[in-house]
Amino acid sequence: MNEQVRDWVRAARHIAVLTGAGMSAESGVPTFRDAQTGLWAKFDPHQLATENAFRANPSMVWDWYAFRREMIAKVDSNAGHRALADFARRHPGRMTLITQNVDGLHQRAGSPGVLGLHGNISQDKWLDTPHACCNADAAVPGSPPHCGVCGNMLRPDVVWFGEALPLQTLTLAENAASSCDLMLVVGTSGVVYPAAGLARMAAGKVVVVNPHPSDLDDAADAVLSGTAAQLLPQLLED
Ligand code: APR
Repeated sequence: MNEQVRDWVRAARHIAVLTGAGMSAESGVPTFRDAQTGLWAKFDPHQLATENAFRANPSMVWDWYAFRREMIAKVDSNAGHRALADFARRHPGRMTLITQNVDGLHQRAGSPGVLGLHGNISQDKWLDTPHACCNADAAVPGSPPHCGVCGNMLRPDVVWFGEALPLQTLTLAENAASSCDLMLVVGTSGVVYPAAGLARMAAGKVVVVNPHPSDLDDAADAVLSGTAAQLLPQLLED
């Protein structure tokens, strides 16, 4: 383990952590852009992860998210998720965890106050502004479930391409980045903004944890070549 980085962790009063799909790879959740195994290597994101795609073919998009939900429900958080949760438990208030992941595995590992930039795949919301008749509990079952009166559809509560991030969450994440002593950037290719921009606005030192080169290596003070479940327990132990 890189002792210098461990010294940075020990010395940091406030650590911001930015995670991506690689964080959950060792739990069995495919990433998006890994060559063969990534979701976007098998599926076209413009057919599945945009509002227009959903309006054009709601059942195909809904079923794809149902398939991902089932997959995520079967897996568990890994040693990397647990190391972050344990650190936050041992050092309350010293870590802000920001994630691009919608799988809920940080929350399942017990991490407090996770800032989910891209939403949560296990939650739904109405596609159009709900009317008085739109009651999710009484929605007509189907792909997707919909309002029996006005036809409004339920959609996964995730941020699709071309959509804005939840403003309050993004603002809290930017505040954490601009006030941190250290930012750990774990398991992200760093190609999707504004999330990747958080690493470029970090006030403190930036450490990338990734088994492969990423688009944020140039912004890093140290790049640790390895996996989240291998390196985070070593990096975060007291
Ligand atoms: N540990 C750490 N990093 C890993 C591991 C691992 N075990 N396995 C793979 N990685 C790295 C890959 O090398 C890659 O750099 O994780 C990164 C995953 O990158 P992407 O698949 O592009 O995922 P991410 O950066 O989270 O994508 C950002 O794009 O598709 C949208 O909304 C989606 O939130 C997502 C966003």
